[in-house]
Amino acid sequence: MSPSRYHAAIFGATSAIATETLRSLVATRPASLLLIGRHAGRLETLAADLRSRGAECRVLALDLLDPEIPWHQHLADTTWDLFLIAHGSLPDQETTLTDPHLIGREIDINFISPIRIAAACTPLLEKQGKGTLAIFGSVAGDRGRASNYLYGSTKAGIDAFLSGLRHRLAKHPGVRVVLLKPGMTDTPMTAGMPKGPLFSSAEKVGLLAWHAIQQGKAVAYLPSWWFLIMNLIRHLPRFLLHRTKL
Ligand SMILES: NC(=O)c1ccc[n+]([C@@H]2O[C@H](COP(=O)([O-])OP(=O)(O)OC[C@H]3O[C@@H](n4cnc5c(N)ncnc54)[C@H](OP(=O)(O)O)[C@@H]3O)[C@@H](O)[C@H]2O)c1
Repeated sequence: MSPSRYHAAIFGATSAIATETLRSLVATRPASLLLIGRHAGRLETLAADLRSRGAECRVLALDLLDPEIPWHQHLADTTWDLFLIAHGSLPDQETTLTDPHLIGREIDINFISPIRIAAACTPLLEKQGKGTLAIFGSVAGDRGRASNYLYGSTKAGIDAFLSGLRHRLAKHPGVRVVLLKPGMTDTPMTAGMPKGPLFSSAEKVGLLAWHAIQQGKAVAYLPSWWFLIMNLIRHLPRFLLHRTKL
């Protein structure tokens, strides 16, 4: 018997890692996807790519940062296997920290808007009694470091929120809450950075994200060896951390 169609709604679907996660998904099973983001044209290009790989796709272009969006209306018509929240941004920290408006905007993109969306998905998951909510955090959320503590603190906030949400939803054993923590990945987000040996491709990280979603892992480092690196960084005594350029 062929597997049933997998229904997923993806917020920030045009992200390079999310795109590769979806390509891995549609290579595995028949899928019906709702691609959500801010640029209709980019979403349509992605939809065409995923349709050519066998998926059914709908596109929803809107401002993910708008608190007025009635998510329950957009998401009411389906029993969802997956809500995946992927949008994010990593601007120059020094520039951002000199502008209170930019600080607010970055916190909105990386923390507030994902949390609003997760909060809107929660009653749907409770009602369904099954399904997965997965959000892209980052290894940057594991310890505040001089190089990226603004971005890192938003991802740490996502980690704490999902920990509490996982606790709330524990009485629904069919519901999974997955925190995806990529390490440095070669995507438009990191286009300006020199690429060293710790960088992974979006294809690899997307495939690993799909595996973690399927397994319903609570927390997944992508690739898994980032757990060892971050464990070391987390436990580094402060006086030693302060001598590094991390
Ligand atoms: N790349 C890395 O090294 C890395 C490491 C750790 C964690 N992550 C996380 O993984 C996730 C995916 O990252 P990626 O590298 O795949 O990113 P990416 O390819 O640069 O894509 C960023 C995504 O965020 C969307 N976005 C950016 N600003 C937005 C805004 N103001 N409103 C709505 N959407 C906005 C973009 O939409 P448009 O297509 O419309 O621009 C795009 O879908 C992010 O949450 C990121 O923080 C990435």
